[in-house]
Amino acid sequence: MERILVIGGARALGAAVARRAAKDGYEVVIGARDLPATEALAAEIGATAMRIDLQDEATVAAAAAELADGVTHIVTTGSAPHDVRATELDHERLVTAFTAKVIGPMLVAKHFAPVLQPHGSIVLFSGVVGWRPGPGSLVKGTTNGAVEHLARHLAADLAPVRVNAVSPGVVDSGAWDRLGDGKAALLSKSAAGTLVGRHGEPDDVVDAVMWLLGAGFVSGETIHLEGGARHKTG
Ligand SMILES: NC(=O)c1ccc[n+]([C@@H]2O[C@H](COP(=O)([O-])OP(=O)(O)OC[C@H]3O[C@@H](n4cnc5c(N)ncnc54)[C@H](OP(=O)(O)O)[C@@H]3O)[C@@H](O)[C@H]2O)c1
Repeated sequence: MERILVIGGARALGAAVARRAAKDGYEVVIGARDLPATEALAAEIGATAMRIDLQDEATVAAAAAELADGVTHIVTTGSAPHDVRATELDHERLVTAFTAKVIGPMLVAKHFAPVLQPHGSIVLFSGVVGWRPGPGSLVKGTTNGAVEHLARHLAADLAPVRVNAVSPGVVDSGAWDRLGDGKAALLSKSAAGTLVGRHGEPDDVVDAVMWLLGAGFVSGETIHLEGGARHKTG
């Protein structure tokens, strides 16, 4: 059976990937910071839970040691937004943001390279803001843009293991529930900014991730899942 590790898999898009992978017959390992939440989802879908914090290399190394008998795929969804203008940057939060999206996945590659099966893959998470500069999106945009380059360079470094990224637009993943009544406005504004006239649903992302796992001739790519938002003018 193929084993998949989903980092950030206890909630939102990570949890949606973990659920689908379990349904599709993968052996699923969920790695996340909140161990009780991770264990609860793992028990529900028949997966294994592990504590992985991308800010803490020791947890990544320990997970790789525990999974030393082999991992086929790794999906990492980590994100720690720091949505401020340049004059308001906080050094620690800046480093945290880069660690969740870029440095952490590099350390995952470091520790899991000896464990990953040659026909396996890594899927990273970028996001449309990387291609949509604007006030307050400096850090998110730059980290998401860096993920595209990380996919290319890591693919060359880890070959034949494939490394790709997905770049979602605004997806109703659960992450936006914190906006309360403001969520509906965000979703409709984002729908208006696409060519297809709607916001994203978790299945839009999960379908693409699952396709990438089996796409044996695709490596170093970023797949844009944002309804053509980058191509919409006016
Ligand atoms: N939803 C969207 O509209 C959208 C749009 C564009 C891009 N994306 C990207 O898609 C990915 C998933 O987003 P989402 O919608 O599922 O919600 P999210 O709230 O952005 O999810 C972030 C995930 O990262 C995990 N995480 C944060 N710091 C971590 C760390 N140090 N170590 C391990 N895990 C860490 C969180 O886990 P905890 O439970 O531990 O906090 C959570 O599972 C993110 O990379 C996001 O930037 C999402």
